[in-house]
Amino acid sequence: SERELGEIYDFAVQLGKDAGNLLMNFAKARWGDKGSGEQLFSEKDNAVDIVTKADEDVEAFVKSSIQKKYSTHKFIGEETYSKGASRDYLIGDEPTWCVDPLDGTVNYTHLFPMFCVSIAFIVHGKATVGVIYAPFLNQLFTACKGRGAWLNETQQLPLIRNPIPPMPARAPGGCIFSCEWGKDRRDKPDGNMHRKVESFINMAAEAGGRDGKGGMVHGIRSLGSATLDFAYVAMGAFDIWWEGGCWEWDVSAGIAILQEAGGLITTANPPQDHQTAEITNVRLGSRLYLAIRPAGPSDTETGRQTQ
Ligand code: IPD
Repeated sequence: SERELGEIYDFAVQLGKDAGNLLMNFAKARWGDKGSGEQLFSEKDNAVDIVTKADEDVEAFVKSSIQKKYSTHKFIGEETYSKGASRDYLIGDEPTWCVDPLDGTVNYTHLFPMFCVSIAFIVHGKATVGVIYAPFLNQLFTACKGRGAWLNETQQLPLIRNPIPPMPARAPGGCIFSCEWGKDRRDKPDGNMHRKVESFINMAAEAGGRDGKGGMVHGIRSLGSATLDFAYVAMGAFDIWWEGGCWEWDVSAGIAILQEAGGLITTANPPQDHQTAEITNVRLGSRLYLAIRPAGPSDTETGRQTQ
């Protein structure tokens, strides 16, 4: 019911704040430690897929808080997810909490501020509540279906509503495009890394711009946190974000927030495919996501407007 959902939202927001503060305590304890030789992380699948004590302890805290309050709900967390479990197992119809205790683990280990906790509540496969808290940045993003998306509980998202149309015909001029590198470092000519570099070049290149159809992108970014990418698309700071290789905990809270802010999510490759891609009903379980920021009332089909 509405009331129950409201309670879940309030609980998730408080839990996000508490978990983020815990993360920040871990980060502070590390100030000055760089190079001390202390074992800060261990490797999972490869040398860039890492886990820290902060990931594990924050997940344990979030998991036990949820289980205490909602003992019948299912819990999926990045660190408790067991390798080899079938992907079908992940998100079903039942009420499910999907949590990344520390998104941007590499950033965290370098004390690069782009890291956050991400908590989503999913019903019937739909991300309904999303909480993302980046404690170093003091940015809290929250959303609940039907109640809008918010920054620090006071500013409604998107903050910026111009200037591009929501589904540009090709890489739109004047936008900021964000793309993550993921963790796959296998260097094959047609592999992930190469395709990403290629799409970066396509987006950045002058070709395709200045012909009245596209235009040069203003900038290309890689934050190192897929979760914060979503939040920044919802804010309007990023126009487009794309990544192949995400897991449910990387995207669930971000999807709830972006959808509530009026943005679009699809599973496609930029820039060629996104015009024809199906936008409705993003299926959690895909690895590939493309997010497009909310359009504003000042957007037009043909061109950009500046404020
Ligand atoms: C990762 C980050 C990274 C993205 C990866 C994610 P983690 O999450 O969001 O930017 O490229 O796909 O798995 O491991 O830091 O929680």
